[in-house]
Amino acid sequence: MVEAIDAPLPPTSTTPQVQDISLHGDDPPPRYIVRELPDLSPPSTTIPIIDLSRLLSGDEDGGREELGELKAALTSWGCFQLIGHGIPGELLDEVQVSAKQFFRLPSEEKQMCFRPEDDVEGYGNDPILSDKQILDWSDRLLLKLVPEDTRKLHLWPTNPTQFREVVSGYSDELKRIVEALMKAMARCVGLEEDCFLKQYGGKEMMMSRFNHYPVCPRPDVVLGVKAHSDGSGVTVLLQDDKVEGLQILKEGRWYGVPIIPHALVVNVGDQMQIMSNGIFKSPMHRAAVSATRERYSLAVFHLPDPEVEIGPAQDLVTKELPQQYRNLKNYSAINFDCFQKGEIALDSVKI
Ligand code: OGA
Ligand code: NI
Repeated sequence: MVEAIDAPLPPTSTTPQVQDISLHGDDPPPRYIVRELPDLSPPSTTIPIIDLSRLLSGDEDGGREELGELKAALTSWGCFQLIGHGIPGELLDEVQVSAKQFFRLPSEEKQMCFRPEDDVEGYGNDPILSDKQILDWSDRLLLKLVPEDTRKLHLWPTNPTQFREVVSGYSDELKRIVEALMKAMARCVGLEEDCFLKQYGGKEMMMSRFNHYPVCPRPDVVLGVKAHSDGSGVTVLLQDDKVEGLQILKEGRWYGVPIIPHALVVNVGDQMQIMSNGIFKSPMHRAAVSATRERYSLAVFHLPDPEVEIGPAQDLVTKELPQQYRNLKNYSAINFDCFQKGEIALDSVKI
């Protein structure tokens, strides 16, 4: 997997956006070079496809069958392509276009959205949290979507003009979909349907991360996003509609995730692995970059209220499968701490 380089690295508070490095066509600075095996361009494969409209068809045969497929997906890949989700294709296109228009603005015009030094939200490159960190070849815009009353609207783009409206609309749609998925996830392992949702507490959170992967002259040694698992409950990814890049690790091998127009890639995050007592897998994944084509994606992380304790659902703790993880609060803080120490957060909370 990703190895940290040991050489001392220059201070980075002044590092340019990747977009600017890319524009100059320079070789990536050493901080971006990963020594990673195997090959960064593995074969594409079919990951499971789940049809939400079938899932919601209740106890009819189709619904039951789809629930079985969902369980198989969550326990093997830990991810799937979601179709039949009911979000109009035009809205998904508008989200993509709005994100592209924002990222393509010159830096000066994105100033108002720049990530403040003491914040995680806003526009910027991969934030530097540890000396040994290999940087991701990506610029990103992080914006909290939910709870709505905690949105930092001063960091939300006003150019393009439709950005706010389009992203709010997408956020409403995702709230509905994620809730339906959480219920189905509980049902597929025989739990009461609100079992996971209850653990999310009153103030569940949705954090959006718009990713921009500029072209990179060395896609063989640079990653858009290093191998990681998400610290979320679940993540919903709107992939670029033309350029592939997402790769998932399964049983020690990497696979490219193909683009299915208007499908959403859903993956289990660490906190759902914990709540399911390890039955659902939070998959390692990464994003490759290209020497000729820039790529865009939008990840939305759905997270429990950080103030509320989560833990393995009691009905999933059995003699054969004792409790795998301790109960905890604020997994994001644990994740952040572990990242800085070079540790894996999920391992640190394992019993
Ligand atoms: C992420 C992520 C993958 C991609 O933002 O956490 O895994 O394809 N993104 O952009
Ligand atoms: Ni991710």
